Amino acid sequence: MGRQLQRDSILHITEINKRINRYRDLDSLLNHVLREARQLTAADAGSIYMIRNGCLSFEYVQNDSLAGPGHSPDFLYQHQTVEMDHRSIAGHVAITQRPLVLDDVYRLPPGVPYTFNPSFDQKTHYRTRSVLTVPLLNSRDRIMGIMQIINPRDRQKKDTVFKRDDEAIVTYFANLAAVAIEKALLTREIILRMIKMSELRDPEETAPHVNRVGAYSVEIYHRWAWEQHIDENQIQRTRDLLRIAAMLHDVGKIGISDSILKKRGKLTSAEFRRVQLHTVYGARLFTDVTSEWDEMAAQIALSHHERWDGTGYPGAIRDLSTPPRRLGPGLRGESIPIFGRIVALADVYDALMSQRSYKPCWKESDVLEHIENQRQGHFDPAVVDAFFAAYPVIQSIQKKYGNGNLSGG
Ligand code: C2E
Ligand code: SIN
Ligand code: SIN
Ligand code: SIN
Ligand code: FE
Ligand code: FE
Repeated sequence: MGRQLQRDSILHITEINKRINRYRDLDSLLNHVLREARQLTAADAGSIYMIRNGCLSFEYVQNDSLAGPGHSPDFLYQHQTVEMDHRSIAGHVAITQRPLVLDDVYRLPPGVPYTFNPSFDQKTHYRTRSVLTVPLLNSRDRIMGIMQIINPRDRQKKDTVFKRDDEAIVTYFANLAAVAIEKALLTREIILRMIKMSELRDPEETAPHVNRVGAYSVEIYHRWAWEQHIDENQIQRTRDLLRIAAMLHDVGKIGISDSILKKRGKLTSAEFRRVQLHTVYGARLFTDVTSEWDEMAAQIALSHHERWDGTGYPGAIRDLSTPPRRLGPGLRGESIPIFGRIVALADVYDALMSQRSYKPCWKESDVLEHIENQRQGHFDPAVVDAFFAAYPVIQSIQKKYGNGNLSGG
């Protein structure tokens, strides 16, 4: 690659960097970073490993050859961890923190400490050949993960090996991408803390409740999306975003006073009007919409108390920054975002099945009868159908995250 080409590449990477900084949720960011890195070298495949619990965990794989028709997409959901030691290519790069180029992983140079793990190739009949592995380092030079770019192609789309320039360009790109990845990791960290905070604020918003609402919502969505013939890959991606966004549906209760939230009895109508603002307060935390995820979290916080028949709240809000003193009429039917309609059902199901400071728990049969009766009333009939179709899974979630079970996630 000549000097001019290299300058073009750097300009190109600067453009790519602007694009990747739009992604905030870790999943879509890693997916996008990997795609861009592969495009820089026309590579057929690639993967990303992130450090989790002291190991390298296989997070993402893209493979154009295996993505075609006639192949099962199973390889996308592989779970594999690699120890942080010199025995694997990934581990070696994570420890040395230096890029590594191998022309053929089945013919490694003599004397290297690592071996290539052929299990992915064996399972998929893929032939991994040339591999460029780069470390992903955070701003304090701590290792966050590694990226592998596999099987580059030349202009005639024939297999080739990585050139020195490829290594330089991909390494430069990886350093920029690492900044965005570090931000996404921080965002995830902040979200987990927000969940913790809302648990402290409202004694009913316990870890099990929050986990259950997240998990129920995902199962209802999956069934609903399947009925709508939504593509399975899209469903999988949405599931991950939805679970966290749904867990935060009540995070706006941070803005409601203790004397109201912890009240043992029935709320006065003035108190209830204050509680209703938790929807607006919650949405306000995500108004800086920079990713699909923020948008979903804002929608859910705002619309999870709307009702299908239009009698819910808060209704249309013109300006989130100055909540109105009086809430207008609720939204109706499909003008309520789908994720709001789904979380509404998950939330009420869980509220009724649980004991609250202001009410005892209901019998399961009464809860199910109530939900059936509210088809077309409180709830979207298609969401009610999806709920009943998914009910066996919902019951098993209920057992897994029973009250008092603080683990999970
Ligand atoms: P939450 O406890 O998580 O309840 C969520 C939703 O479940 C409620 O939204 C309501 O739609 C449904 N739900 C809960 N309990 C019952 C019930 O006994 N009967 C029926 N039919 N539905 C029920 P809603 O009403 O908009 O309330 C929002 C939040 O306001 C509640 O969240 C809770 O934090 C608070 N809240 C509501 N009413 C009272 C109350 O009387 N006393 C206290 N201390 N808090 C209340
Ligand atoms: C985020 O990083 O924005 C949260 C979503 C996730 O956990 O992937
Ligand atoms: C991509 O570039 O692969 C799309 C990123 C995403 O939104 O998942
Ligand atoms: C390794 O880097 O040796 C493990 C990952 C792989 O199988 O490609
Ligand atoms: Fe709520
Ligand atoms: Fe709730």
